[in-house]
Amino acid sequence: MITGIQHLHSTLRWVVLILLVLTLIRAWTNRSGSFNVQQAKLGLFTMISIHVQLLLGLVLYVQKGWMAKLGDSSIMGVTRDRFFTVEHLAGMLIAIVFGTLGHSLVKRASDDAVKYRRQLIYFGIALILILASIPWPIRPGFETSGWF
Ligand code: HEM
Ligand code: HEM
Repeated sequence: MITGIQHLHSTLRWVVLILLVLTLIRAWTNRSGSFNVQQAKLGLFTMISIHVQLLLGLVLYVQKGWMAKLGDSSIMGVTRDRFFTVEHLAGMLIAIVFGTLGHSLVKRASDDAVKYRRQLIYFGIALILILASIPWPIRPGFETSGWF
C-alpha cells in the first residue's frame, strides 16, 4: 500500500509540473486579454494537483518514519535523511501555500489583468520552489529516487 502511494506521489510530480507550466504559459500569452473560464479551471486543477500531493506526502511522511526523525539532530549530517525530514517538507509546504494563493487570490480579484498577474506571481514562485525541492535522481545522494 505505502509503496503504491509512493509511486503515485512520485508520478504525480509530472502532473503538477505540467499543469503549472501550462497555466503560466497561458497566463503570460493572454495577459492583456480577458480572463476566461478555461484559465480559471486550469488554475483550480493546478491547485488540486498540489493538494493531492500534500495529502499523499503527509501519509508518506508519517508512515515511512520521516516524522519520527524530526527531533533527531544526527540526521542533519546525512543528506537523504535531512532532505526528506526537513528540506523536502519545508520547501514543499511553502510551495503549496503559494500554489493555493495562486488560485484563491485570483478568485478574489475583480480585474482580469490582476488575475493574470497573480497567477504569474504565485504559481511562478510555487514552480521554482517545487523544482528546487524535488529529489531529482541527478542530485548527488538521490540516485535511487526515480524519474517517475
Ligand atoms: C507539489 C508537491 C510535491 C512534489 C512535486 C513532491 C515530489 C516528490 C518526489 C518526486 C519524491 C520521490 C519519490 C520516490 O523517489 O519514489 C517525493 C518523496 C517524498 N515526499 Fe514529496 N512531493 C511534494 C510534496 C510533499 C509534501 C508536502 C510532503 C510531506 C508532508 C512530502 C513527503 C514526501 C516523503 C516523505 C517522500 C519520501 C518517500 C521515501 O522515500 O521514503 N512530499 N516527493
Ligand atoms: C492535507 C490535505 C489538504 C489541505 C491541508 C488542504 C487545504 C486547503 C485550503 C486551506 C483550501 C482553501 C483555499 C482558499 O482559500 O481558497 C483548500 C481548498 C480546496 N482544496 Fe484542499 N487541502 C488538502 C487536500 C485536498 C485534496 C486531497 C483535494 C482534492 C482531491 C483538495 C481540493 C481542494 C479544492 C477543490 C479546494 C477549493 C477550491 C475552490 O474552489 O476555491 N484539497 N484546501
